[in-house]
Amino acid sequence: MLDTQPAVHATGAKIIDGRQHAKRLREELRIEAASFQAKFGVPPKLTVILVGDDAASRLYVSNKSKACADVGIESLVIVLPASTELESLLEVIEEQNRDASVHGVLVQLPLPRHLPVHAVLERIAVEKDVDGFHLYNVGSLALGTAVFPPCTPYGVQKLLEAEGIPIAGQNVVVVGASNIVGKPTAMMLMQRDATVCICHAKTRDLAQFTILADILVVAAGRPNIIVPQMVKTGAVVIDVGINRLPNGKIVGDVDFEGVSQKASYITPVPGGVGPMTVTMLLANTITAAKRMRESQSPHLSVPSTGTSPSTSSAD
Ligand code: GUN
Repeated sequence: MLDTQPAVHATGAKIIDGRQHAKRLREELRIEAASFQAKFGVPPKLTVILVGDDAASRLYVSNKSKACADVGIESLVIVLPASTELESLLEVIEEQNRDASVHGVLVQLPLPRHLPVHAVLERIAVEKDVDGFHLYNVGSLALGTAVFPPCTPYGVQKLLEAEGIPIAGQNVVVVGASNIVGKPTAMMLMQRDATVCICHAKTRDLAQFTILADILVVAAGRPNIIVPQMVKTGAVVIDVGINRLPNGKIVGDVDFEGVSQKASYITPVPGGVGPMTVTMLLANTITAAKRMRESQSPHLSVPSTGTSPSTSSAD
């Protein structure tokens, strides 16, 4: 629970409590994991591969592993040195692809610069790609048939649904065009019949777009990029940013105090979207496990495609 923030901000916006929503969803996932274990005699299992010793990535990986334990998913964390060559990393991924006891595989991003991210992501078996970052799963998302929606956008969608916030017909503005958050969020909300606009670092006069948003999703990685005068009165504001200030404080991308006074709903940072991201990874892992055991994945049974010539960043 949030200790310091009231459920409704003093001036009006309802604070969307991501921890509470995540807790409720995890209770459901715990039951699903237990029933999988009872039926098949093994737990759902996720392998997380971390290359290098980036402090933030280590923390995220540790959180993923703890969350797995919390709902009854087995997890294996493989930590490789930052100097790992592409071929060695691909062999580690292949090994996890072949291991029938493993249902989900993810490679924590960002990768060290010498590793071509798409070549790595595309080596993960599509039916184990619980991040939804493989080209095949990105294509499924674009077609509206995703089996593994990327975890952060999936968490955003679940928060909106859980709060009873309508999506169809709403003006959605997404600030940030990353492959992990911005683009898939836009695609998922468009699929739900929203009118979607994506803004990014080169957008001229950001405010002229954000002011039109009924639902504003901010994933820019810049503290205070959204201030009250950029927000329509009554808008729903979803802050995906996680920024550490020089004083150590963690903040989002939105001026929370100011924007709370205009928005109808707002997510805090921490305690908003963050807990949902990990929760949706657990949900995708259970989905992968069930599909594998129940052979419900005919359209996911394409072979791994091997390396890709692309070396651009996934983000
Ligand atoms: N790095 C930041 N977010 C993510 C995520 O959702 N998945 C992976 N694999 N790496 C990340």
